[in-house]
Amino acid sequence: MRRLVEADNACVWHPFTQMRRWIDDPRDEGRVIVAGDGFELIDARGRRYIDGFSSLWCNLHGHRVSQIDDAIRGQLGKVAHTTLLGHASQPSIELAGRLVKITPETLKKVFYSDSGATAVEVALKMACQYFRNLGQPKRFRFVALRHGYHGDTIGSVSLGGIDTFHSIFKPLLFETAFVDSPNPYHNPSGDDAADRVIARIDELLSSCPEEYCAVIVEPLVQGAAGMLTHPAGFLRSVRDLTRKYGVLLIADEVATGFCRTGKMFACEHEGVSPDLMCLGKGLSGGYLPVAATMASQEIFDAFCDGADDEAASINTKTFYHGHTYTGNALGCAAAVASIDLINSSGLMDALPEKVRLIEKKLSSLADHPNVGDVRQCGMMVGIEIVRSRDKREPFEAKLLRGEAICRMARRRNIIIRPLGDVVAIMPAPAMDCDTLERLLDGVIGTICEYFQPEKR
Ligand SMILES: Cc1ncc(COP(=O)(O)O)c(C=O)c1O
Repeated sequence: MRRLVEADNACVWHPFTQMRRWIDDPRDEGRVIVAGDGFELIDARGRRYIDGFSSLWCNLHGHRVSQIDDAIRGQLGKVAHTTLLGHASQPSIELAGRLVKITPETLKKVFYSDSGATAVEVALKMACQYFRNLGQPKRFRFVALRHGYHGDTIGSVSLGGIDTFHSIFKPLLFETAFVDSPNPYHNPSGDDAADRVIARIDELLSSCPEEYCAVIVEPLVQGAAGMLTHPAGFLRSVRDLTRKYGVLLIADEVATGFCRTGKMFACEHEGVSPDLMCLGKGLSGGYLPVAATMASQEIFDAFCDGADDEAASINTKTFYHGHTYTGNALGCAAAVASIDLINSSGLMDALPEKVRLIEKKLSSLADHPNVGDVRQCGMMVGIEIVRSRDKREPFEAKLLRGEAICRMARRRNIIIRPLGDVVAIMPAPAMDCDTLERLLDGVIGTICEYFQPEKR
């Protein structure tokens, strides 16, 4: 273990991590993960932990699932990777067929990339070029939600509204029109927050309809913001507005997709069929970096034909975007196996019982003086830690409590990650009820222990 820690400290720069603290941290529980087994992760000392955050929200069926392992091995026996530039590949064709089948009805075409951020990057460039191809080049402005998170590339950061992550890069970003999150707890005016946000979007779009190209939302819940859930009907109202003004709706289902919210996609809860949908994380069951941007036939058609500049070998309507590993064969094979497993394992049918179990367990925190809000959307959970529940008063030094509580949970053999002062839990949708119960009891027990004065 020590050798691995030293080698890590010597060379690896970890994402979203203050490296000074990481290197100086003497604790090593759960630090170096060497294996996974079902819903558990195993560290270099052989200690086992429940994977309470689905290995950053992507694992669906557990680790080392034979159906997915076998699919990857099977593909490895043929070829690991071939390009989609100028060629097609069997796994990418099979996966596209399945995605068109399971996503909302407007979505007919699949553009592959390799992370949630690139799926968003593709969507925003497609939206912009779609209108340009239609002869409306001034439409390149986006509406997004404050506290939203869409990834860490410059385009997706431009659409993001989390100041801690995004404000430092302001000089590099394009301008986006931000509206408030409709989450009631984070809106001082309370229940009518959603109406106010909808009215604001209406105002923006009507003020210069010829300039806006798309509204982007994380449907139902803004994950990275601290699992900020949206009131029922909000997504549907946004969809209605985008139709009213002929603006595209981009649904970023990178976090919410593939069973997290209790349905295959969050959009299904409100019968919404977006123009563009971003998928990543759970797409490959949490195995390999595969992402996809799904587009409507109408959008796709606007990219076909167009005038060629033969001398320059340029077609003005072509979508000039792609990545080396776009449509990677191993990743697509894993994703096909994962989607087939969702269907064959009865995972969706088993979800309501798990969602109810989470609800029931978390109700024990309802009166905790340091729990400001407990938010749940299906299998996505955020527990907001505050100085005083009654006064709705947060801790002034943000980030510390969430991190300390998640750290403390390791002693109970649980791995979770905070979102600021929100303790986030995101179990794999396939997690069995016994493990889920142990996970929830462990997190609730940790929060209670943390706030017992004698233990502080
Ligand atoms: C809603 C949403 N969009 C995009 C992303 C970015 O995905 P990735 O980290 O794979 O780039 C995330 C990651 O958490 C996300 O939650």
